[in-house]
Amino acid sequence: MLRRLHPVQPDSFAFTPANLEWAKGQISKYPEGRQASAIIPLLWRAQEQEGWLTRKAIETVADMLGMAYIRALEVATFYFMFQLQPVGSVAHVQICGTTSCMICGAEDLIKVCKELIAPAPHTLSKDGQFSWEEVECMGACANAPMAQIGKDYYEDLTADKLRDLIARFSKGEVPVPGPQNGRYAAEPLSGLTTLKEFESGRKQFNASAQLAVDIGDTVKRIDGTEVPILTPWLGKPAKAAPAKKAAATAVAADAPAKPAPARKTTTKAKAEAAADAPAKPARAPRAKKTDKE
Ligand code: FES
Repeated sequence: MLRRLHPVQPDSFAFTPANLEWAKGQISKYPEGRQASAIIPLLWRAQEQEGWLTRKAIETVADMLGMAYIRALEVATFYFMFQLQPVGSVAHVQICGTTSCMICGAEDLIKVCKELIAPAPHTLSKDGQFSWEEVECMGACANAPMAQIGKDYYEDLTADKLRDLIARFSKGEVPVPGPQNGRYAAEPLSGLTTLKEFESGRKQFNASAQLAVDIGDTVKRIDGTEVPILTPWLGKPAKAAPAKKAAATAVAADAPAKPAPARKTTTKAKAEAAADAPAKPARAPRAKKTDKE
């Protein structure tokens, strides 16, 4: 699939103050001269903020990292996770169409997207609220078929359940992500058959669904205020060499030089040495065993 910048582009891009602080924190992870290593997290944050990657966003990130625009564009066009065209203002729906999901009904989900959103992928719905695409395996095969909507997974879907989800999103609701058929996570639908002790004391939703509910960022455009910005590596002195290694280096420096290794014996020398050596006594032949023994 040819991936190009969208023909209609906004005039400017700027990170929100909190996203800018976060981006600077990411850049500080890398040693001087290696700032370009932060390209993917920065492009990703720009996309999380705007919904898609604009030309101005790519150029802003390239400037921050001291990269040529073409280098940043190469990264943005290479990875399919970067959306190079506008996505729905409410949500971009990614339907997994790989084996498990396909067997379990992904094609029905795609039909719903074509009907409710737009006939072609990467196209905005008439009201601009939704867009959709088919993606490869998202690693939730035990809960097939599934879709990623915004940042989170909606699993164990049917065509009717997806219709319902899209309707609720368009009303401004944010349905709880995770399995949509009553499962807690990926256990059998009839309940746990083993490790049952883990059933008690667990939270209302499974770990990822609970996190999505707690943070509330499922379909939100990320402005950097959702979670604290942590940069524990800043202000810490660079790690000293481990003591053992340093001591070993000092000992090695004081030690006398190693004698040069003995030269390899040549074939000729070996032959001369063999000629000087006393002849080995011939091996006594083994006595033949007789029937009497
Ligand atoms: S096949 Fe759909 S999540 Fe793996």
